[in-house]
Amino acid sequence: MAHKIAPSILAADFSNLQSACNIIENSAADWYHIDVMDGVFVPNISFGMPVIKAIKPHATKTFDVHLMIVDPDRYIKDFKAVGADILTVHYEACNHLHRTLQAIKAEGMQAGVALNPHTPVALLEDVIMDIDLVCLMSVNPGFGGQSFIEQTYDKVRKLRRMIDEKGASTLIEIDGGVTSANAKQLTDAGANVLVAGSFVFQSENPIQTCNELKDLVG
Ligand code: DX5
Ligand code: ZN
Repeated sequence: MAHKIAPSILAADFSNLQSACNIIENSAADWYHIDVMDGVFVPNISFGMPVIKAIKPHATKTFDVHLMIVDPDRYIKDFKAVGADILTVHYEACNHLHRTLQAIKAEGMQAGVALNPHTPVALLEDVIMDIDLVCLMSVNPGFGGQSFIEQTYDKVRKLRRMIDEKGASTLIEIDGGVTSANAKQLTDAGANVLVAGSFVFQSENPIQTCNELKDLVG
């Protein structure tokens, strides 16, 4: 299966989200990565449902919504209503993760779980068959433009082993500090989806950057 590129619109120009849509739509990018932050789970506030709803009519590609919020169960239906295709919650924000995953799927979305850098992948062992996507945070969540944590490679390999041993079809996504310098090493370790925010949107030619990243990982 081809590797996917998911530009994070957190790094886009918020005064011109139409341009971010054009970049994603007219490049080899596969998904929109959409970071929702509540100022409680992470020390930053980004945007919420109204912004996602506003860009949906301009988009044809998958909406990969990454919730960095406490108690995400409260808003599962709302994110479905504004166009989320994949809804990812944080392991650290869910007391009843299994129930949350079922609730996401009951709405017809794919269910993702994100792990902070300090959270071991082994904690997902008993629920991996229920997860469509694991998002490994390769920075501490809350901000774009941070540097990649090298320990992530080891986590990717461990998670890849777990998924393969269980015969699960879970995708591994890497989020934070992804650039052309680590992309290939990440997919070689077993990652399927690479999120890239500042590397794409702060480059001179974001469409070209998406295309080059996609070519690099095949
Ligand atoms: C961080 C977000 C990331 C962020 C990645 O909390 O989850 O998706 O946008 O940005 P870069 O690629 O700039 O590290
Ligand atoms: Zn994210």
